[in-house]
Amino acid sequence: MSRGHFVGVDYHRLMLADSVRVDAFLGAIKALMQPGDVVYDIGAGLGIFGLFAAKNGAKKVYLVESSPILEVAREVAAHNHISNVEFINRDARECEVPQPGDLVICEGIGNFFVTDEMQSVYRALPRFLKPDGRMIPGRVTLYVAPAFALMFPGIRFWGEDRIGGLDFSPVAHWAANRAYILNLPEEFLIAPEQVFAQIDIPDVPDSLHGTMEFRVNRQGMRLSGFVGWFTADLAPGIVLDTRPGIRTHWGQMFFPVLEQPLSQGDLIKLNLGLHMDETYRSVFEWSGQVMDRRGNSTFKFRHSSERRFQKAAESHEFT
Ligand SMILES: C[S@@+](CC[C@H](N)C(=O)[O-])C[C@H]1O[C@@H](n2cnc3c(N)ncnc32)[C@H](O)[C@@H]1O
Repeated sequence: MSRGHFVGVDYHRLMLADSVRVDAFLGAIKALMQPGDVVYDIGAGLGIFGLFAAKNGAKKVYLVESSPILEVAREVAAHNHISNVEFINRDARECEVPQPGDLVICEGIGNFFVTDEMQSVYRALPRFLKPDGRMIPGRVTLYVAPAFALMFPGIRFWGEDRIGGLDFSPVAHWAANRAYILNLPEEFLIAPEQVFAQIDIPDVPDSLHGTMEFRVNRQGMRLSGFVGWFTADLAPGIVLDTRPGIRTHWGQMFFPVLEQPLSQGDLIKLNLGLHMDETYRSVFEWSGQVMDRRGNSTFKFRHSSERRFQKAAESHEFT
């Protein structure tokens, strides 16, 4: 199953208002489309990319979209006098393919790439393409870095003030078992990022696992968690970048820990995993430890968004 993200017109407003996203995709279409091309926009939403292609040289464009938003896209096309377009209101993994395409555009990108659960839709893209056809995006890279998220209230809130005379600090252990979406400034990164995964479209796996190590290169830092983001190579020289400091509607994915002080030179070890649960929702697991310069373990953590209604593990064996 794929989920996409159809939750009404206002969600599409957020995507269309994201000029980093829109400019990168429009630039890539201009770079990769040739006059007379047959183009597919898969998971077309309001049709921004397919309709742009239709207006700018494509012979024929197919907008493939499984949700009712396609009816609104149809109205947008008519309003803009675009007629070289057809609408396929079906699941892209099963629909008919009227003719092989020269270019397939698929912006089904969720937070940290994966949360729209479009993996199987990406895997289905080749069936729309001629053998020498082109795809946007081409490669997606996922990055992770440890962060001191000074303004992130998700965990810290629970230890701060008493509310109604009550101390809610036990809630922090529960709040740490979920991933959050943030827009983080770059200066909150504690160490340079590492590549977590590299995905060549259309070969998108349902699960990802990676082990990373980070050397803390700043004094006076605290570990609040790990921040994850993606870049997408859309065309030669056109990279959509969502790293901290660049504001997009995706922001970055944040995997919290119960905040810990760090020393310069500490080594942070992280295991990060992603898989789908039985309802095809993304489940994240992150565990690891901090080692001081002498190699002694000073802090261990283990969290899972699947155990949202369980406490975060206070200690465990790091593997
Ligand atoms: C992230 S939105 C992007 C919309 C549009 N491409 C844009 O960039 O503005 C992904 C779209 O894919 C659609 N979608 C999800 N699963 C699909 C499927 N299996 N077949 C066709 N469309 C799907 C969703 O309904 C949603 O409109």
